[in-house]
Amino acid sequence: MAQTRGVDMEKLVSLSKRRGFIFPSSEIYGGLGSCWDYGPLGVELKRNVKEAWWKAMVQERDDMVGLDASILMHPQTWVASGHVQQFADPLVECKSCHLRFRADDLKDEKDKKCPNCGGELTEPRMFNLMFKTFMGPVEEQAAVVYLRPETAQGIFVNFENVIATSRKKLPFGIAQTGKAFRNEITTGNFIFRSREFEQMEVEFFVKPGTDKDWFQYWVQERFNWYVKLGINREHLRLRQHGKDELAHYALDCYDIEYLFPMGWSELEGIANRGNFDLAQHAKYSGKDLSYFDEETQERIMPYIIEPSAGVDRSVLAFLLDAYHEEVVEKEKRVLLRLHPALAPIKVAILPLSRNEKLLPMAKEVYGEVRQAFITQYDDSQSIGRRYRRQDEIGTPLCVTIDFQSLDDRQVTVRDRDSLKQIRVPLEVLRATLAAKLAGEPMEVLPPGGSKWLGFDS
Ligand code: GAP
Repeated sequence: MAQTRGVDMEKLVSLSKRRGFIFPSSEIYGGLGSCWDYGPLGVELKRNVKEAWWKAMVQERDDMVGLDASILMHPQTWVASGHVQQFADPLVECKSCHLRFRADDLKDEKDKKCPNCGGELTEPRMFNLMFKTFMGPVEEQAAVVYLRPETAQGIFVNFENVIATSRKKLPFGIAQTGKAFRNEITTGNFIFRSREFEQMEVEFFVKPGTDKDWFQYWVQERFNWYVKLGINREHLRLRQHGKDELAHYALDCYDIEYLFPMGWSELEGIANRGNFDLAQHAKYSGKDLSYFDEETQERIMPYIIEPSAGVDRSVLAFLLDAYHEEVVEKEKRVLLRLHPALAPIKVAILPLSRNEKLLPMAKEVYGEVRQAFITQYDDSQSIGRRYRRQDEIGTPLCVTIDFQSLDDRQVTVRDRDSLKQIRVPLEVLRATLAAKLAGEPMEVLPPGGSKWLGFDS
């Protein structure tokens, strides 16, 4: 039986809507099937996920460069890649209610009937998942172009350009984030499977013969990335694809799976694509895409290791893993224990009340702190309610300005997870916040700072 998680998806969907993380697309018109909009907090979270990925994949490595290829590509790309022929799912339609299903989702005998109304289903037919559109003013077959179903192909077709301009030598990788589109038959589970989504893909080019080692390396590297950013190791596992499951281009593939509320499901795939892609594009474009190996003085066709992650699925996994409920002083507290690098708001500035004496200093602190971190200012409602609100959106640190602050020019810094509070002199506030966000324990007091012995919330 599938193991499932305690966090339920409805709770997260509701929090996401209520707090401004994620909304259904075009909601005022009733929504659009499986498309989602990221609200003010969601857009920050998503940006942070992509930035954390870029930092680990590009900024901190010598063997990687970035790319941002266009979404629309020459249609031959998709013939060469195999997508025109093979990127299809078996589709059945109910003869009564006309709902459509993926035939391979209906495994049991009873499911041979329509899951919606029990009606008779059509024989399966292959349905290509690529969205088509037309380039230019004439809607004819010759003008058909596709919305890319993966970002990967933009990297393969630029291999030669990147080699020529970056002077990279094997092994090296090209990294890209961007939108991808798939006309999925079965969608659902919130942002887990949608028709428009974002990918974070690396194509890592290696010498044939070294591919198996690099493949293992990338499987570990990518698994560890999620753990470093706070996902509980127990909620992640690796699953190797069976031979019958491998995509047409893959020699080997592992999925990093996450324990979503609906069970273990793919978060990221790492594939050994062999030399399939460069060989195909060389054949279809007529360009020589081989690489001159200076060591052996031979031309070789590099093998490719591809760690391919979904931005939206990562956002979902980070949110699910961060969601916690606990009881503090007999009251329920909901919090997102997001890693500080991912939290949409890093610091909240909260004057104790709207008393006008506090205002100048509160604004001064806000003006100073926001130079360094995404910061929110909030002076509505009681301080307790404002703390709870920041907990629920995952803000790691709150700074409170009280009447004592006016005398001693110190403010209270409160930690989301431990609820510990310290008093910090204004002149070291920015440095203290930076240190705490980087993981310094709250017990380490800044110069001139002290432990706060007052109320907690
Ligand atoms: N270039 C290889 C490739 O695209 P994939 O396994 O089809 O491989 C990679 O996709 C990742 O993209 C998946 O692990 C998943 O995180 C994300 N992804 C794929 N289809 C998706 C969809 N319909 N909605 C959201 N994310 C999706």
